[in-house]
This record gives sequence, C-alpha cells and structure tokens, in this order.
Amino acid sequence: MLLAPAGYVWECISLALAILSIVWYTTGPMMKQETVHVYTNVRLGETALIGDFCVVGCPPRGYKDGQLLTVIGADAMLRSHTVIYAGNVIGDRFQTGHGVLIRESNEIGDDVSVGTQTVVEHHVRIGNGVRIHSQVFIPEFSVLEDECWIGPNVVFTNARYPQSPGVKETLKGPTVRSHAKIGANVTLLPGVEVGAYALVGAGAVVVHDVPAGAVVAGNPARVIKRVADLGVYSLPDDLA
Ligand SMILES: CC(C)(COP(=O)(O)OP(=O)(O)OC[C@H]1O[C@@H](n2cnc3c(N)ncnc32)[C@H](O)[C@@H]1OP(=O)(O)O)[C@@H](O)C(=O)NCCC(=O)NCCS
Repeated sequence: MLLAPAGYVWECISLALAILSIVWYTTGPMMKQETVHVYTNVRLGETALIGDFCVVGCPPRGYKDGQLLTVIGADAMLRSHTVIYAGNVIGDRFQTGHGVLIRESNEIGDDVSVGTQTVVEHHVRIGNGVRIHSQVFIPEFSVLEDECWIGPNVVFTNARYPQSPGVKETLKGPTVRSHAKIGANVTLLPGVEVGAYALVGAGAVVVHDVPAGAVVAGNPARVIKRVADLGVYSLPDDLA
C-alpha cells in the first residue's frame, strides 16, 4: 500500500473544499442574495428580480410550508422588504415598492404595480393594469377591476360595524370598476362600488356608490361633475 505524505493529503482536502465552496456560491441557494427567503411551492416566472429581505410564499397561519401554491409571472420586480404570502396567483410584470405586504389567496392580473408600504389583505381580486400608490390599505374581499388607479394613502374598509359579533361573516370590501381613479387620502366604506371611469376627489369619504363617469368629492362624497366635463381623459362613447 502506498501512503501519501500527510501534507499532500491536507492540500488535496483544502483544494476540494475550495472547489466545493465555489460551486456552492455560484449554483446553490446562497448564490446572490442570502437575505431573500423563497418558500417551497413557489413558481417564479423568468427574470424575476427580488430585492433584499423579501419573503415569498410564506405559509399563512394553519398551513405548512409548500401546502399552498404561489405563482408569480414573468419579469417581476419585488423591491426590498416585500412579503408575499402563499396561495397568491399573480400575473406577469408584477412590481412592488419597498415594504409591501401581500397576504394569502389573492388573484392579481398582469402589469400590476403595488406601491411602497401598501398592504393587500387576503381574498382580494385585482385585475390587469391596476396601479396602487404608496401606503394604501386594501382589506379582504375588495375588488379592483382592470386599469383602475388608487392614489396614495387610500383606505378601503370592509367591516361596517368593527368588532361586532359575527362581523367576519359579513365582511364586504369596496369594488372599484375599470379605469376608475381614487384620489389621495380617500376612504371607501364597506361594499361601496365606484363606477367605471369615475374620479374620486382627494380626501373624500365615499359612503354611497359612485356612478360611472362621475366626479365626486367631500365627506360624504357627492357628485360635483362628470369626468367628461374635465376634458382631460379619453372616455368610452357612452361616458364622453
Ligand atoms: C375632485 C377634483 C378632480 C376636482 O377637480 P376640478 O374639477 O378641477 O375642481 P374644481 O377646482 O373645479 O372644484 C370644484 C368644486 O369642488 C371643490 N373641490 C374640488 N376638489 C375637492 C376635494 N378633493 N374635496 C372637496 N371639495 C373639492 C372645490 O373647492 C370647488 O368648490 P367651489 O365651487 O365651492 O369652490 C380634484 O380637486 C381632486 O381632488 N383631484 C384628485 C387629486 C389627487 O388626489 N391626486 C392624486 C395624485 S398623487
């Protein structure tokens, strides 16, 4: 039997360890961002960019890691500190600002952008091309149709009588129809519907449904004019 000198053996071991660590760093999960946590059963589309301290596919209470599928389409950009729970189905080109929270079981279309520090609770439906500004609160059972626009600090609500017995069985979020725009600091009361192409003025408290193509303002919000009167938006024929 031929015995190699001890020094030679140690050189071989350290070379092997060096090669292993290079392979680990270039192909393993530690590759680029040690700070990102992507749970199991997450389908991320091509060219997703995920910022530092993002968490994707986090199981909600009562679920185990991987139990709920999470889908995020191609070309996503999740900025740092975004947290996305498991069970979301999100389309292509999804963008988040910093510190966004998306709870479980939401349906989110293509080309949606969610601004910094916005919170989307669970069972929310968001259509294609929706843009949500910074620090918006969207509770469960809200609906945001295609191409609607939500200004900064808007608050959606879904419980008419908070903390009352059985309130959780009667939660109803607002519905914002397609192309409607909600100004800064607006509060939408539970279950209200903002019609297509409507414009809600800054600071309004919307207590009743808003007709399609109306401009409303104030607390409580009242119709002050038609969007067509503003002459700055292109509208479908029936609202022009
Ligand atoms: C509602 C809005 C679209 C109206 O614009 P406008 O048609 O140019 O408004 P006018 O200046 O003609 O105002 C009409 C009347 O409504 C009042 N008004 C306008 N905006 C109001 C608002 N947000 N809340 C309460 N009253 C308002 C005006 O004081 C005026 O009342 P008056 O006739 O008694 O003086 C606009 O004021 C608004 O709030 N836009 C949203 C801004 C926003 O949040 N942008 C987000 C980007 S970050």
